[in-house]
Amino acid sequence: MFITLEGIEGSGKSTQILHVFNFLNESGLKCVMTREPGGTRIGRKIRSILLDPESAAMNPAAELLLYTADRVQHIQEIILPMIAGGSIVICDRYFDATLAYQGIARGLDMALILDLHKLICRNLKPDLTFLLDLSPDAGLQRAWNQLKSGSRMDTESRFENEALAFHERVRTGYLGIAEKEPERFRIIDASQSEDQVRAQITRVLKFEIQKFMDPSAQDDIKCT
Ligand code: TMP
Repeated sequence: MFITLEGIEGSGKSTQILHVFNFLNESGLKCVMTREPGGTRIGRKIRSILLDPESAAMNPAAELLLYTADRVQHIQEIILPMIAGGSIVICDRYFDATLAYQGIARGLDMALILDLHKLICRNLKPDLTFLLDLSPDAGLQRAWNQLKSGSRMDTESRFENEALAFHERVRTGYLGIAEKEPERFRIIDASQSEDQVRAQITRVLKFEIQKFMDPSAQDDIKCT
């Protein structure tokens, strides 16, 4: 099973992914936690180029290709082998981020992005995606607090430096993508407290994991 978390800057994905990992582990399920960009050794080098504020002049198409390079390495080296070995893979961002950031916010051709994913990344899609939704005002404030307090490195602040309008487009983009695939997406109100968000995610997880493990029983399962 392949689970992803998505959301704008400061939406709390990196905190919540730890809760997801712990919940699955405590439930006795084999799982691995990973992220994009930077889920592999090669990917970490690509990540440092992509997120460096000194890369401000990066061409949007170059940006798209670097995210795709990171992803194909990640899929081949980590995601597919782990799924094949029976693990649940939980990933902090994946292809929906490319659709929202490079497609909708940067304005690159969506058909090109979808084709690249089909040609290079085997069109691999998650089984379940949590979209942590939050206003960009609130998200950016949290993200800048993390940068100021040192809990996030300022060598990774290229996207935080983008204008508020850019982050508004990313949020709208994500919500539009989620609307098109309601069976895969679960939209979580990330303006709530950490515990409230965790409780909401855990409720969905219990239901979805049971359904995934025993699809024939899905009519009997109640979401509690
Ligand atoms: P994060 O690891 O803190 O979420 O930062 C990753 C940044 O990269 C974030 O600003 C979103 C951006 N991003 C894209 O623009 N496209 C992508 O495909 C991915 C995976 C991330």
